[in-house]
Amino acid sequence: MRSVVPDYLREALSDVEPDTSGEPAGYIPELAAADPDRLGAVFATTDGEVYGAGDIDTEFTIQSISKPFTYALALADRGFGPVLAKVGVEPSGEAFNQISLESDTGRPYNPMINAGAITVHALAGPPELTPVERVERVVEGLSAFAGRRLTMDEAVCASELEHAHRNLAIAHMLRSHDILTEDPRSVVDGYTRQCSVLVTTRDLAVMAATLANRGINPLSGERVIPEPVVRQVLSVMSTCGMYDAAGDWATQVGIPAKSGVAGGLIGALPGQIGIATFSPRLDRHGNSVRGVSLFERFSADMGLHVM
Ligand code: DON
Repeated sequence: MRSVVPDYLREALSDVEPDTSGEPAGYIPELAAADPDRLGAVFATTDGEVYGAGDIDTEFTIQSISKPFTYALALADRGFGPVLAKVGVEPSGEAFNQISLESDTGRPYNPMINAGAITVHALAGPPELTPVERVERVVEGLSAFAGRRLTMDEAVCASELEHAHRNLAIAHMLRSHDILTEDPRSVVDGYTRQCSVLVTTRDLAVMAATLANRGINPLSGERVIPEPVVRQVLSVMSTCGMYDAAGDWATQVGIPAKSGVAGGLIGALPGQIGIATFSPRLDRHGNSVRGVSLFERFSADMGLHVM
């Protein structure tokens, strides 16, 4: 397996490499400046083996891939009831940055869209934390999933905050419904910091493998979150992780997954493997073009479709 898997990954990367369709995210200027040709893929198994090819140690911002992990931290820190009272679990069928709030309660449809994730950020850690302490709880939690201390890209964070009008509008809507109960600007600030955490493709595969391994990091052996939380997170990734492409993804790939606008993409197969890819050009849903192709191929070649 050791030598065969990297060969398989290298071949898969060279097959998708010529596809230069899509564009890096343009609404965060600092991301638009990133090298669009980067390409990497990593498999991390639940028994602790890691195999990769391509740009597996290049750091990029985690962006929306932070959402399922922060959801996990909020569920673990606050319990299911308080979190579900504020954020639903239904697919919105809309783009990730739509307002998408339930008309009667004002709850965001799910924790994978920005409205839900901004709300979830405010639910990480115990209620008495200050905004700065909450960001630290999130970074520490994401680091436990990765098995190493993660840092933040201040330039990407500042660049996104300068143009965060949409997320600020969403946060103000959430505040008007009392879904958020504190200053919307400070929650968007913390959420943007969460999205600016730097990871490698290797980190993302280990984070996904921690979900696949029922909440225990297969490299460090640390239990990061309880098992019932893992089930909740993987379920929501299955139905909502790829936004308004979730149906196509479910039929063609069939793995609980999450994408980010810096070009990362993860999938987690319970009891088996965490998979991560990195390629910055995105399709119209905000999902990595070559990442989606790689996952389609992995799923078909290895019979990974679980739905
Ligand atoms: O809030 C935003 O718009 C970004 N920080 C994250 C969005 C994202 O990654 C969407 N996923 N593909």
